[in-house]
Amino acid sequence: VTPSKEPDPAVLPAYGCQRRTPLAHHNAMLTEALETLARDAAFSGDETRSLAFTRAASALKALPRRLGSLRDLAALPGVGKHCRRVIQEVLEDGSSAEVEAVRRSERYRTMQLFTGIFGVGTRTAASWYQEGLRTLADLRATGPRLSRQQQAGLQYWEDLATPVTLAEAEAIRELVQAEAQRILPDATVTLVGGFRRGKPMGHDVDLLLSHPEEGREQALLGPLVASLEQQGLLLYQQRQPNTFGQEPSSSSMDQFERCFAIARLALPGAGDPGAWRATRVDLVVAPRSQFAFALLGWTGSRHFERELRRFAGRQRGLALSSHGLYDPQREMFLPATTEEEIFQLLGLDYVAPTERNA
Ligand code: CTP
Ligand code: MN
Ligand code: MN
Repeated sequence: VTPSKEPDPAVLPAYGCQRRTPLAHHNAMLTEALETLARDAAFSGDETRSLAFTRAASALKALPRRLGSLRDLAALPGVGKHCRRVIQEVLEDGSSAEVEAVRRSERYRTMQLFTGIFGVGTRTAASWYQEGLRTLADLRATGPRLSRQQQAGLQYWEDLATPVTLAEAEAIRELVQAEAQRILPDATVTLVGGFRRGKPMGHDVDLLLSHPEEGREQALLGPLVASLEQQGLLLYQQRQPNTFGQEPSSSSMDQFERCFAIARLALPGAGDPGAWRATRVDLVVAPRSQFAFALLGWTGSRHFERELRRFAGRQRGLALSSHGLYDPQREMFLPATTEEEIFQLLGLDYVAPTERNA
């Protein structure tokens, strides 16, 4: 173990939102092993087991040094027996037999492939696997059973499996902002998701749209999508209306107006002047009064968000979503205009976007 001036890991707090989790950390071998098991458990529909592995991996990501021995583990929150065994194996042998077996298994590999397709969730992938389907060619042969979204996912699979670079994400943000401001001059377009957390690559481009004047944002997405489509910049798009305050929310998914799209991004400097690639783009529209909550909710990571909501509920008795922070005692939403204010309302130290890679 190398000596370290960092605080003792014994003080690592229990919730992911109470810790600083940088993108680059010191325990990648361990976290990759645990995250493989987390994915495998999720593929079997066992969310509780999956979460246990994710929690342990997340704690390791926040550790300011390489885990040297099992003794160091006593100080980490949320590491159960099974995780401990896997960590011990990796520490002693350089890999875990259980994890390697999962990685080699036909089921895991097929589920990875299928759930990686735009529009395909765990349940669909599992039912395809049950039916004996194994490859993209198998899926293409089943044509009629695919949704329009899944057809697009298959059609552009190769491009969509190629990571989006930060430069490409910035280019799309600028293009969308120029178009949005042609429709509404003061419209704002913010790059959120993994890129806001400092990731150099991503699987998609997440853009949060708003307008300084409450309500004006409602006139944005329809014309924007129509205009992009007219210019041949969209290969696929699926819009959803805002349902906040209309239907009770069924999941932890927010109810903003949104568009899941595949953009046709020109690639200048690729040699061929007509070169382009397909890129997944998520557009989400938030009114100014909910902007800070939407920004926080759409910056992620998914686990950081889950931990924020769990902390708010269990430790503060408040319900946090991408729309607001609700106090059931006072039967009101607590207003905030910045992320810093939301952390303050929760009684949490502020965590910068680049430290939310839990
Ligand atoms: N999100 C959400 N509702 C959805 C989809 C995403 O609230 N229906 C939020 C997630 O909580 C996440 C953020 O949007 O924090 C970005 O999600 P996603 O693009 O899936 O993940 P990234 O962290 O951006 O990772 P990647 O680089 O793979 O895109
Ligand atoms: Mn993303
Ligand atoms: Mn996304």
